[in-house]
Formats: sequence, C-alpha cells, structure tokens
Amino acid sequence: MTDLKQVISQRFSDALTRAFGSEGAQVDPLVRQAQDARFGDFQANAAMSLGKKLGRKPRDVAQAIVAELHLDDICSKVEVAGPGFVNLTLNDRFVSSAVEALARDERLGITPAVSPQTVVIDYSSPNVAKEMHVGHLRSSVIGDSLARVLEQLGHRVLRHNHLGDWGTQFGMLIEHLVAPPDGGGIDDVGLEHELRDLNRFYREAKARFDADPDFAERARQRVVALQAGDATTLAWWQRLVVVSKRHFNAVYDKLGVSLRDEHIVGESHYNAMLGQVVLELAPVTRVDDGAMCAFVPGFEGPDGTPTPLIIRKSDGGYGYGATDLAAVRERATVLGASRLIYVVDARQSAHFAQVFWVATQAGWLGPLARAEHVKFGTILGPDNKPFKTRSGDTVRLMDLLVEAEDRAARIVEEKNAGFPPAEKAAIAHVVGIGAVKYADLCNDRIKDYVFDWDRMMAMDGNTAPYLQYAYARIQSIFRKAGIEDRRAYLIDATLRLETPEERVLALRLLGLEPVIRAVGDDLEPHQLCRYLFELAAAFSAFFNACPVLSAQSTELRISRLLLCEVTARTLKLGLGLLGIEVLERM
Ligand code: ARG
Repeated sequence: MTDLKQVISQRFSDALTRAFGSEGAQVDPLVRQAQDARFGDFQANAAMSLGKKLGRKPRDVAQAIVAELHLDDICSKVEVAGPGFVNLTLNDRFVSSAVEALARDERLGITPAVSPQTVVIDYSSPNVAKEMHVGHLRSSVIGDSLARVLEQLGHRVLRHNHLGDWGTQFGMLIEHLVAPPDGGGIDDVGLEHELRDLNRFYREAKARFDADPDFAERARQRVVALQAGDATTLAWWQRLVVVSKRHFNAVYDKLGVSLRDEHIVGESHYNAMLGQVVLELAPVTRVDDGAMCAFVPGFEGPDGTPTPLIIRKSDGGYGYGATDLAAVRERATVLGASRLIYVVDARQSAHFAQVFWVATQAGWLGPLARAEHVKFGTILGPDNKPFKTRSGDTVRLMDLLVEAEDRAARIVEEKNAGFPPAEKAAIAHVVGIGAVKYADLCNDRIKDYVFDWDRMMAMDGNTAPYLQYAYARIQSIFRKAGIEDRRAYLIDATLRLETPEERVLALRLLGLEPVIRAVGDDLEPHQLCRYLFELAAAFSAFFNACPVLSAQSTELRISRLLLCEVTARTLKLGLGLLGIEVLERM
C-alpha cells in the first residue's frame, strides 16, 4: 500500500491543475493528517496561499478545488471549512481494506525502494585502548537504528565503525606496554591483565609521558617506528587493537547493536592512502607555517583569524582531518556511496563542515554523493551537567548497561515473581537495555537530554517498557484464545469499524510506512518512537472500549483480533527498527 498522504496529495495536485492551470500545478497542496477527529482525517490547506496569490477569497478557491477533486473511492466526506480548509473524511471501507492488505503483507506495507542507494553509515567509532563511555551510547544506538531503517527501505547499507586505532597516542601506549615501569616483559596473560582496565592503562601511560622525558622520547620514536611499519611495533599495536575489539564486541552484544568485526574500517585503514589524498587536495590547500591547510570560508577564531583544517602537520604527520578526508574519498568514489552519514556528537560540527567543504571542492562530494552530519546532543545527569559518576568520572558504558539490567531485574522480581529464573533474567535484559536505548532515541537527537532511570523504566509514558508491555499484552490475548496459527485464523478476516476507537487504531496502523520513510529521509528516529507511542495509546483505548474475545459476534471477534495482530506486528517491526526487542510475556 502506498502512502495515503501521497495519494491524496496527488489527487489534490490534479484538481489544482484542472481548476487553475499552470498556476495551480505549482502549488503544494499541503495535505496533513488532521489533529482533531472533528475536522476529519486529513486536511489540505493550499487554498489560503493560492487565494492570496490570485487575489481571490480562499473559500472560493477551496470550493473550486473541491469541484475538480476526485476522491470518491477514498473519502466519504469532503468539506470546505473555516477560512478555506478542505477537510477529508476517509471512508470506512477504504480504511478497513487498507488494514486488511497490511495484514496480508509480510513487510507491513513498506515496499523496498525502486532505486536503492548505497549508504555508508559511520557510527559508534570508539577509540582503541579506551573504554567505551556513555558518549558512545548515542552514536551506537542512533546509528544502528538508522542502519536498520535504511535497510528496511531497501537500501544497500554499509556500516562503518571508524575506530580510533591510529595516531600519535599509540607511541606512549605501546611503549608503556613494552617497558612496564616495574621492568620485565609482558606475556599474553599479563597483557590481558594490564588492559583489563583500559582507562587506567591509558591514564598511567599518559602520566608517564608527561612526567618522564626519557619515556616521552621513546614514545615518540615508537610513533615513528609504527608509521614506518616496524614489525615488532605493529605486533604490539595489533595486540592493543585485539584486546580493545574484544571489549567493544562485549558492549555491542549486550547493547544489541548490529556492529561486528567486519564493520570495522578504522583510521589505520586510511593510513596508506594519505599520500595520494594530499596530492589530490593540493589545489584546494596552501602551506601555512609549514602545515598543509585548507581554509574554509566562515571558519574563524574569536579574533577573526581564520581557523584552517589541518591536513598535514608541519612535522609531516597526519591528523583526524586528513583521515576523514581519505574516508570521504573512499566512500564516495570507491564504494560508490550516494549518501554518507556520520552519526557523531554535535561538538564535532565544525570539523565535519570543514571536511565536507574540502571534499566538495575536491569533487568527491556533490549532488550524486551527499554527506550528512547526523549530530546529537549531550547526555546530562540529574544536575543538568554532562552525565558523570558520583566521583566525577565519565560513566563507562558497560557499567551503565549492567545497571540497567539490575534495575529491570528488580522490577521483574516484583511483577513476575513466579516466572522461572532464566525467563526473569531474559526479561530483565530486554526491558533494561530497551529502556536505555529508547530513552536515547525518543528525544529529538539534536537536543541534550537528562538521563533519568525512573522515567525510562516506567511502565507508562513514552518508554520502551510501555511499548513492550503493549506487545506482550496482545500476545497474551492470542494465548488466551488458544489461537496458534494466526495467519491461517485471520486469512479471510474482514475488518469492521464499529466504534471510534477501532477507527482511530486502524488509521494509526496505516501510518507506519510514511513514518519509516520520513525517518529514512530526515534521519530522526524519534519520529518513529512518537508514532509507536501513539499507536500503543490508540491500542490501549481500543482495548478498554472494545471487548475482543467476548465480542458479540464471531465476525466482530475476528475483526478485532485482526486489529490486535496488525498492532502487534507493527510494534515488533517498529521496535526492531529501533534495535529494541519484544517479549512474549512480561
Ligand atoms: N573516534 C571518534 C570519537 O570517539 C569518533 C569518530 C567519528 N567518525 C569520524 N569519521 N570522524 O570521538
């Protein structure tokens, strides 16, 4: 089934053309879903601006449009209201057959794109030899959801975990490993032990670097050796990477993020290309103080001096900017991506704006390969400052996830005391992790949000547990009815819209496809959250008003079970696209 709003818009455009010729053809019909059922189901507001343009009364313009409008197959009522709104009421038969079609469709109406795009999504991207912290939660969770949505829409999605696995800091890290302060060497067991606490290891290496000039010098030589491809140094570096990856994968597993080793395309991957990149960038850069710089218009310090993007430092070293330019180049020109998505903290906005500008000058980006910085705000603590532990340290992501499970386990213990222990643990995992992910996704990503355990775990409100519960409740209806093969049971079901609640729910169900498409365009998962929340609320209202298993007739019972089934499948699919699991009971 195609997007209803689109169908209606098309009919309006046709009517506008018939009524007003080319002048009408240029007007956006401005079709919206009505906010208030008294005004019907949809509204078109084109008459206002067109009236102004033509110097005619908007109401008359609206009448003229309606006279040319062919909507008999879709609408039961078309009326001009107020200053010139056109209000549409869908006819019930149209709504119910659309929902019946959804029920028969494996993909719930989401047809794959006719011309699929290759999309690279750069997300998560933690740094080797550092633990993932709460700052990586947002990128991992938002990026993963966008990857799932774009895949569902039929695009070819390439997940890129742009691991911070290269750079001068590896000199001190490797040197700290090779020559521990207490002397002696280090075997594999020792290495594991040494790196168990990555943050501590990093801090110690840094402290030594700052305090001991001898060590600092050896660290610098290590960087040279690493860049020159010295075999032993590379081997040490590799061990750091391996241990770090193990840690990242443990976090991804717990978090239910679909990143695996094969998605790692770290900074080191681009190292060998940097020479070529610099050559190609020569026309758009100039040397300033020995460094190769790109001066991007509009980027100036507080005193008005331009702040360039440094491509190659005066000592010949390459930094974050050069690597990102190499990445753009490879993604756009080698991998053939037409869309390059970067799910990175808003604080890196200036960096990406400069990188994209330079890449556009170089001809790597353009109308056929667009780059988008999908930026997000900061997670705040209860004090409205960036979220920290009580002692003021950054919150480790793993600790946070374990706490989410623990908190959910306490709730499960209260609510489902009689369930088998293994099931209770499984529920705690799905609910706890779901709550954390949903709390992140349901906010407009560009805004900061306050991390609030009680709110995200609440069983009511715009939360994962609320949606998971709605799903589980529907599953229990089918269990109670003893229906095993729902497909077979509902195969010939006809939908009857007897009450306003059934109609509202049915209309909501038709909203999945447009919202998924909107998320694919705007890259804002909170739109999907909002939709699912409204769907669950509509289900709840329906369930309170309409007896399902004890409906007056078999036909009505089947019709209502059909609504239940499509609602459950929609919740499951929608939550799945957010990377959140559902439960058969909770
Ligand atoms: N490693 C960086 C960090 O932790 C994020 C990298 C984002 N991706 C990119 N292509 N620069 O801040």
